[in-house]
Amino acid sequence: MNHPSLRHLIEPEDFTIEEIKKLVSLGEDMYKNPSKYSDICKGQILASLFYEPSTRTKFSFDSAMLRLGGNLVGFADANTSSAKKGESIADTIRVMGYYADIIVMRHPKEGAPKLASMYSEVPVINAGDGGHQHPTQTLTDLLTIQVYKGQLEGHTVAFCGDLKYGRTVHSLIRTMARFKAKKFILISPEELELPSSLKRQLQDQYDIEIQEARYIEEVVEQIDILYMTRIQKERFFNEEDYLKLKNSYILTNDKLENAKEDMIIMHPLPRVNEISYEVDSNKRAVYFEQSKLGVYVRMALISKLLEVGPYARG
Ligand code: NCD
Repeated sequence: MNHPSLRHLIEPEDFTIEEIKKLVSLGEDMYKNPSKYSDICKGQILASLFYEPSTRTKFSFDSAMLRLGGNLVGFADANTSSAKKGESIADTIRVMGYYADIIVMRHPKEGAPKLASMYSEVPVINAGDGGHQHPTQTLTDLLTIQVYKGQLEGHTVAFCGDLKYGRTVHSLIRTMARFKAKKFILISPEELELPSSLKRQLQDQYDIEIQEARYIEEVVEQIDILYMTRIQKERFFNEEDYLKLKNSYILTNDKLENAKEDMIIMHPLPRVNEISYEVDSNKRAVYFEQSKLGVYVRMALISKLLEVGPYARG
């Protein structure tokens, strides 16, 4: 039997707007005053089960747990785990719950962390499932928007690149809709458009204007937040299609000539070649700061799910 207050984070909708806002502001406080929180997870263990490659998500979770005074177990290569011997996710999760107090899972199959949460007696966090969702990247993105734009509501947000397979886009766009975005601009090649079911959901459920474009320059002057993404090579069925699309967008300072002074450029990283290195020193580029902020919002999330520190009960 699961504990009655057991919560998981599988997709951003698992949390209310109020819960997300509280996490973002706690993340901001943790960023500014990390020492206040340095032992709230003492004696607790985080397990990270990464069945897909990762740099930022894996190590920012590790760093977050260590900065809270907790400990770590896990694997970054599933070939070193019993998955290689054919063990099911359900069995792995049952057992990992004996070894850890909270589990972070990334998996190439959509729905795998959801399945894990159904068998888990400890909180499960989805660290990215296939081309589906990436809710902790969304929390990272929201903290970045809060820090650099001062508020989460009312922005014109452009998403550029692989809107079909990009899970960071799928999670963030729905969340920005809940935060009453002013307008979405979708910039992608025809082959990599936002899935039509998601587009329909955004139109039916939220009253937000959606514009589609093929080039950044066509729409750049309208944008408050430009969210660049990598073409998701690993999700393509054949190499030829990827090669055709891989250079669809390369952001350069020239293309930003008509951008608002206070526009920000975000990217979940890793970048391949969709943002030219010269843009790194553009005052609008915040993607490295974004990856730094990911640690602090993950500290807030771990505290919430473990009910420690500001989330301690009673
Ligand atoms: C993203 C992911 O894994 O979906 N990376 C990340 O977690 N920061 C984006 C990507 O891989 O393109």
